[in-house]
Amino acid sequence: MKHVYAAALLGAAFVTSANAQEIKIGYALAEDSHYGAGAKAFEESLTASLGDQFSFRHFPSSGLGGEREVLEGLQLGTVEMTIASDGTLTNFVPEVGVLGIPFLLRDMDHARTVLDGEIGQEMLAKFDDAGLKALAWGEQGFRHITSNRGAIETPEDMAGLKIRTMENPVHLEAFRALGAAPTPMAWPEVIGALEQGAIDGQENPLSVIVSAKLNEVQKYLTLDGHVYSSTIILVSPSLWGQLDDEQQAAFQQAATDAVAAMRAYVDDVEQSGVASMQEAGMEVNELSPEQKAVFREALAGPYSNYEAQFGKELMDRIQAIE
Ligand code: PAF
Repeated sequence: MKHVYAAALLGAAFVTSANAQEIKIGYALAEDSHYGAGAKAFEESLTASLGDQFSFRHFPSSGLGGEREVLEGLQLGTVEMTIASDGTLTNFVPEVGVLGIPFLLRDMDHARTVLDGEIGQEMLAKFDDAGLKALAWGEQGFRHITSNRGAIETPEDMAGLKIRTMENPVHLEAFRALGAAPTPMAWPEVIGALEQGAIDGQENPLSVIVSAKLNEVQKYLTLDGHVYSSTIILVSPSLWGQLDDEQQAAFQQAATDAVAAMRAYVDDVEQSGVASMQEAGMEVNELSPEQKAVFREALAGPYSNYEAQFGKELMDRIQAIE
């Protein structure tokens, strides 16, 4: 009798998990990155609150294509979920571009306060009109320059530097103003382009530099922290529309838990990343506050364009946040 009962229970479990709705989650980096940490925390949180109503299939390392293609998949309803960088998301909600203005967000605390507050929440809501459902702001950290041409100390060192940027017009304008030759490129092409010498360098936070093992294709790392790099956790509107209130609340909580996991990963790699890249053979230099000020001055031209584009009021509002 006991066996019959156990078999029935097993059968029930099988039926339930077979009925679980599959969530395909695609992201640009490996499972042992901040993206992987966020995706795993999301899955664990959702499973803890909703049991096996949903099952997850992870597609790390751009397994479903570049960020733009995955986001288009969400719009079409062929992919259910992603974590994507603000650089790509700027092409879906242009207002997000304000966060990509170099040196606008001062430090990690400032960035987190802005994103967790009114401004960040207003921006997330704008994704509804772009055919996407944005749940929460994840994190990457401050972006730094890596290159094979040499260390960067002054804007003059940027002259003619073939640097890959995200497909973000704000970044392109800034690097052009510094005299570099920026090339916007989707992430899946970057390692190959560095290997072949088609580009000299790229820029990304330590979270990416370490998890993508950029030391294997880059010699120099300049810690300039020119811009904070955020990400957003998104689901497809077609999935979101099928969820009842309890499920939506569980997704929202899972996103909060994913953000905490991403931030913990970033905090950790900010402490350990430089030493690990040095051990792996990279030459690392860090810009002093005075050296950074020279870069900021060199960006005066783009700054007035950014004010025209995003509104001085919004930029002042962001800077005024303590
Ligand atoms: O540089 C980029 O494109 C992004 O920072 C990355 C690595 C895809 C993570 O979103």
